[in-house]
Amino acid sequence: MGLLTRKTVTALQAEAETDHSLKRALGAVNLLMLGIGAIIGTGIFVLTGTVAAENAGPAVVLSFVFAGVASVFAALCYAEFASLVPIAGSAYTYGYATLGELFAWIIGWDLILEYALGATTVAIGWSGYVVSFLDGIGVHIPAALQAAPGTVVHLANGGTAVAVFNFPAVFVIALITTLLVIGIKESANVNNFIVFVKVGVVLLFIALVVWHINPHNWTPFIPPNTGVREHFGFTGVMTGAGIVFFAYIGFDAVSTAAQETKNPQRDMPIGIIGSLIVCTVLYLLVSGIATGAMSYKQLDVPDPIAVVADHVGLGWMAQLIKLGAIAGLSSVILVMLLGQSRVFYSMARDGLLPQVVNKVHPKFRTPYVTSIITGIAVAIASGFLNIREAASLVSIGTLLAFVIVSLGIIVLRVREPDLHRPFKTPVYWLTAPLGAISAVYLMISLPLETWMRLVIWFVIGMVIYFSYARKHSHTALKENGAMP
Ligand code: ALA
Repeated sequence: MGLLTRKTVTALQAEAETDHSLKRALGAVNLLMLGIGAIIGTGIFVLTGTVAAENAGPAVVLSFVFAGVASVFAALCYAEFASLVPIAGSAYTYGYATLGELFAWIIGWDLILEYALGATTVAIGWSGYVVSFLDGIGVHIPAALQAAPGTVVHLANGGTAVAVFNFPAVFVIALITTLLVIGIKESANVNNFIVFVKVGVVLLFIALVVWHINPHNWTPFIPPNTGVREHFGFTGVMTGAGIVFFAYIGFDAVSTAAQETKNPQRDMPIGIIGSLIVCTVLYLLVSGIATGAMSYKQLDVPDPIAVVADHVGLGWMAQLIKLGAIAGLSSVILVMLLGQSRVFYSMARDGLLPQVVNKVHPKFRTPYVTSIITGIAVAIASGFLNIREAASLVSIGTLLAFVIVSLGIIVLRVREPDLHRPFKTPVYWLTAPLGAISAVYLMISLPLETWMRLVIWFVIGMVIYFSYARKHSHTALKENGAMP
């Protein structure tokens, strides 16, 4: 017992039934939109170009296929858990039910990398797009306020300046945090609108640029390896898969809204798997068309999708695509912040974080204290961090959560085969191990320094667990008889 004390699935299901503090306002369409809201973002609007130019050539499409397959395995496992244990904590809660408290803490701590740091990364990307969009219409944000401290900003007159603070990134976090405090339904409505805009822009790109494909641009489909592992050839395509994996992150955030869903047993699988399928199809089309319309060698730019539109004579679309990207990134931030506050809420309910964190607003019925704390921490980080430092740490953190969730499915199927599972991962004995293996494979393709940062993060997490969380854990207090 002790560190490995588990919460039973039956106890968690009872908790989900009796806890009405959060408002159950979401249906299947909202969840599908939340998923798409979280998924389509920096990945497709920025990384497609970088990976095509540096790692995979036109075979960036294959990189998207590999990363997509790994995500589908994990999505099936998430869907099984989310319909079985519809509680706000997502992977953290699934960890509590299968592997015990210490692992639950490890996953909860790990999810901070995915959600809070994910929101930070995307807010920095959002800032870049907004600055460029505003420049295009003659509004100039002062260079000092455009990026993280020390970043060299290139000015329109050819000169350079050094930034001190990323103001737009902080601004967007403050705005979205306010929305999340006001209400889940309001947040979902704004998300629906944003998703509409960004998917519209993506579909417009597909419909108009497809006519400009020149098949010559697709040959060679996989450019020969240059001798460096990550530069082209099959190894380059796989490195590309590790990088574009970032584009798929987000479908699992749907599961954190389980406690705010009217019929989670039915709707969670639809939201999680449906959003992933829609986005995978869009990604394959966009990356195939982009590399078909323009040589992959020219795509190493911060706004490749807009550059492709410009290249084929659809210059008017470039500003529209920037607008789509800005909308796209806003909803990613929204769903990531939503996910983070719900995970903290669940951890505080179990006593692993201070009780003030799970306070629910009497009128809005949102966990407002955790939303505000998360918002402030993420805003500070977005004002000062560099995007590249943050992004790979987000991917490795998410992949680790996928590994644990996939293994959790196997553990629970073996240990409690008779539980009523509203959604069952098909051929779980194959799907779940493949989910874990493919996630580990993608983790291995990430740089060593990312691994080092991951280790440091966990050392900090362990110190907090043993100095605070363990002592205040409700399960531990109940075991000692200090809590009824
Ligand atoms: N999938 C999200 C993005 O691409 C995180 O921005």
